[in-house]
Amino acid sequence: MKTPQNRRILLVDDMPSIHEDFRKILMPQAPEHEELSAVEAALFGDEDRAPTLLSFELDSAYQGQEGLSKIEASLRENRPYAMAFVDMRMPPGWDGVQTIEHFWSSDPRLQVVICTAYADSSWDDILARLDVRDRLLILKKPFDSIEVFQLATALTTKWQMTLDTAAQRTRLEDAVQERTSELRTVNEVLQNEISERKHLEGQLVQSEKLASIGQLAAGVAHEINNPIGYIFSNFGTLEGYIEQLFELLTAYEKAETSVHAPEIVEGLRALRERVELDFLKEDIPVLMRESKQGIVRVRQIVQDLKDFSRVNSKQEWEWADLHQGIDSTLNIVASEIKYKADLVKEYGAIPDIECLASQINQVVMNLVVNAAHAMGEKRGCITIRTGTEGEQVWLEVADTGSGIPPETLKHIFEPFFTTKPIGKGTGLGLSLSYGIVQKHHGRIEVASVLDQGTTFRVILPIRQVKT
Ligand SMILES: Nc1ncnc2c1ncn2[C@@H]1O[C@H](COP(=O)(O)OP(=O)(O)OP(=O)(O)O)[C@@H](O)[C@H]1O
Ligand SMILES: [Mg+2]
Repeated sequence: MKTPQNRRILLVDDMPSIHEDFRKILMPQAPEHEELSAVEAALFGDEDRAPTLLSFELDSAYQGQEGLSKIEASLRENRPYAMAFVDMRMPPGWDGVQTIEHFWSSDPRLQVVICTAYADSSWDDILARLDVRDRLLILKKPFDSIEVFQLATALTTKWQMTLDTAAQRTRLEDAVQERTSELRTVNEVLQNEISERKHLEGQLVQSEKLASIGQLAAGVAHEINNPIGYIFSNFGTLEGYIEQLFELLTAYEKAETSVHAPEIVEGLRALRERVELDFLKEDIPVLMRESKQGIVRVRQIVQDLKDFSRVNSKQEWEWADLHQGIDSTLNIVASEIKYKADLVKEYGAIPDIECLASQINQVVMNLVVNAAHAMGEKRGCITIRTGTEGEQVWLEVADTGSGIPPETLKHIFEPFFTTKPIGKGTGLGLSLSYGIVQKHHGRIEVASVLDQGTTFRVILPIRQVKT
């Protein structure tokens, strides 16, 4: 868009006649106007040009101070002058240079022509005093009309062009800034997408890994399940047989008193001593008990493995109160916790959720027992929080325990991964929990800071989507 050109000019000269001359040149009435148009046409080669030359708007001041007041007033009114003609000698007030200095300190954009009748030898001084040469021209008296007119035309145009350029630059800068901020936003969106994708990829790798381990576990569980099954049932039968044998032995021992052949009695005594019958009678039940515990434990591990690989899907889905489940689970594990940590509950308002309640309880139990195990010498704190998030509920188990080093963190959901001493952990707790949460179409997240603690968060949908 082209703004109308500013043609406002201020003439500062102490001689009234000069003002008259300038008025004739810059604000010509019709005849002079035409004359000047002709001059312009001759200069610019535009013969057909109609006499439509725009005149200037000329204001007069007779002293520098008066000129400054006019400049200040013009700025207040937001109608600045494009240029000023300033006479060099204007007694008794400021001379031309002083006047220009004041003008520029008020309006640095003002284009100036300094006019002088004297062949002044101190031009260098003048220029040194003003020190701004790109807005200053010199006009020596006596001057020609065309000189004045062309100076006025060129400098008012220059003023306007400078202004337009600055506006254009501002517009450009704004546009660049806008574009830059658009690009920045796009870049941020891209970065977020990239990291989201990386996160998803990581999750995918993790769940694929766990799924294949799950299959392996299911296979192993299946293979072990049968032999363990008959070992367990045979063991029951064996227990019965041994009991009967003991009964028979007791009967034989009683019958021994009625044996009269001393060599047979002596033989039986020696045999009893050799096999340490009394010790056997004591030790066999202990061995049987321990073995049975061992078999029960192996059966439990096989069961856990099957649960982890989701082989067992007999259970019923039900709408259950998560808080009730957590509370009853906490009762069961109270003895594990009470000497190690204080328990804090921060329950939010959550609806019942559709779940396999006993399995969810198992997840809670694993997380809480792990949290208790993570405590060191110092008594810690386990906080259980719940809340809702859209169509999901979440439950958090946060501890102030040892934290998990990053290397370990990668493996905690793998079956049999444990850092605990033999007998204390099988390394199935979290893999089982992972499987259970997967089965509920939920997810399990963990955040841990070494030596500060760990937070597990389980996120479960309120309603199961039927597939
Ligand atoms: N809250 C926790 N703080 C620190 N480490 C933890 C925490 N929870 C789990 N871990 C680490 O993850 C490992 C695996 O845990 P997981 O529950 O699967 O097995 P476990 O507790 O070792 O044995 P199990 O649960 O079968 O008795 C643990 O051995 C421990 O190193
Ligand atoms: Mg555990």
